[in-house]
Amino acid sequence: NENPMDKNGLGNHLPSRNQTIGDIPEIKTATGAPVTDNQDTMTAGKRGPVALEDIWFLEKMAHFDREVIPERRMHAKGSGAFGTFRVIHDITKYTKASIFSEIGKETKMLARFSTVAGERGAADAERDIRGFALKFYTDEGNWDMVGNNTPVFFFRDPLKFIDLNHAIKRDPRTNMRSPNSNWDFWSSLPEALLQITIIMGDRGIPSSYRHMHGFSSHAYSFINKENERVWVKFHFRSQQGILNLTDQEAKKVVGMDRESHQRDLYEAIEKKIYPKWKMYVQIMTQEQADSMKNNPFDLTKMWLKKDFPLMPVGEFELNENPANYFAEIEQAAFNPAHTVPGISFSPDRMLQGRLFSYGDAQRYRLGVNHHQIPVNMSKGVENPHSFHRDGKMRVDGNLGSELHYEPNSYGNWEDNPKENLPKEKGGDVYRYDFRKDDSDYFTQPGLLFRAMTKDQQQVLFDNTARNMGDSTLQIKHRHIYHCYKADPEYGKGVAKSLNISIDDVDLNLPPSDSKENLKKANNLHPEL
Ligand code: HEM
Repeated sequence: NENPMDKNGLGNHLPSRNQTIGDIPEIKTATGAPVTDNQDTMTAGKRGPVALEDIWFLEKMAHFDREVIPERRMHAKGSGAFGTFRVIHDITKYTKASIFSEIGKETKMLARFSTVAGERGAADAERDIRGFALKFYTDEGNWDMVGNNTPVFFFRDPLKFIDLNHAIKRDPRTNMRSPNSNWDFWSSLPEALLQITIIMGDRGIPSSYRHMHGFSSHAYSFINKENERVWVKFHFRSQQGILNLTDQEAKKVVGMDRESHQRDLYEAIEKKIYPKWKMYVQIMTQEQADSMKNNPFDLTKMWLKKDFPLMPVGEFELNENPANYFAEIEQAAFNPAHTVPGISFSPDRMLQGRLFSYGDAQRYRLGVNHHQIPVNMSKGVENPHSFHRDGKMRVDGNLGSELHYEPNSYGNWEDNPKENLPKEKGGDVYRYDFRKDDSDYFTQPGLLFRAMTKDQQQVLFDNTARNMGDSTLQIKHRHIYHCYKADPEYGKGVAKSLNISIDDVDLNLPPSDSKENLKKANNLHPEL
């Protein structure tokens, strides 16, 4: 009975941990009163009803009734650990961020990895993107790098993010995931093909979180001491190497262990086999950005390594399991808006949308004062001195009796003008159709397809066919057509695995990149 997870090389599972009892084993109420009996509720007579004055029962039950908090809307199932980042190469000419200020400098950090579509109890070994979220507790405040294990995303406008989640999560009627909705949506967006090709390929199910790379995916910006900006993408390369599961192996793993990623990460760290990732950056100057044919801030495209080589920066190691999962991982709030001087944003529409969404989601999920939860506090900065006051669950001194308006005559709440960002380009406000800016959907998926071995290509065809499941013929044709545009062999391979003759697929259509084109394609073959 071979376990596909054995290839991760961790050896035998650890026995479950013994609980440690504190110095004072006696149980107390939340306000410190002794609990005299934790076995029997207080009743009126031996067999009578329960008394309202059993305040221990009321407190225990009421607390339990509130134990769950909303899960993350996506990326709900995840695992995390603490670690250390160390600088190995000097990049101070690009950024003044203190985390990178000198070779050898170490910064404490937290990582959380996740699947995307499944709920908090979902199995780990599913075909899906993996989240790759890092929080660096720098001495200038927290820098969160909230990435994925893929360098691109399905689309380029944040308005579509809500539709993506509705399409891939549960159907409102059946309460089941629906391949038809999933592929209907994906195949209606030709720009999604690169991301689809990655997920349907052999990297679509990493064997563990330790065995995958991470990417910022978006371009961000670096600002140096002269207040000059360059554009930057971050890459984190697993030093454990890449290991994946096939669909067949994953089925077996899920049947044996729904927590395979959680177990692997936890046990590796307990066994002191600390996982490591090397950090690299790709740098693009404004001049290079201006001369790019494609929009450099388009999240559906990679910056090719041959044009923008990976420059090594440093390395991180995860070496400490959380002592308490809920306190330190479930309550962790990663947010791309959390930056430090020297690191900033880019005009990538998707990133701009994310800058609002995370804090907003966390104010709902964790509360307005979630920055006070210890795992989210900016440990490197002694006194963050933020202006905010009051709100639910304010648990520090709430800024004592300091005045709370600005301007004032007492010199409090001063601006920091020296950290002002350099100017960003802009233009007239309008809803610009990004497809008119760039409708090259197929070059990069074609490049990726041709970089695969024949075996990898076959795996891609078969995974795609299995994953499309009960999708309608219409949708299958649409996807085959997009694959064909990327590379005829890609289209033919997927068609064959789907048992569809490529001759039946209309290859003269425009891509389904507008409502009109989509209608045209659907009307041509209403019988499908
Ligand atoms: C989680 C929104 C795209 C990576 C989340 C959460 C929201 C969100 C609301 C839950 C936050 C929480 O409750 O703590 C969005 C929106 C997007 C977008 C609106 C596009 C417009 C992306 C992209 C990436 C990404 C492109 C990667 C490059 C993640 C990760 C998490 C996450 C890793 C989990 C963080 C954690 O471990 O706590 N996203 N997201 N998201 N997102 Fe996104």
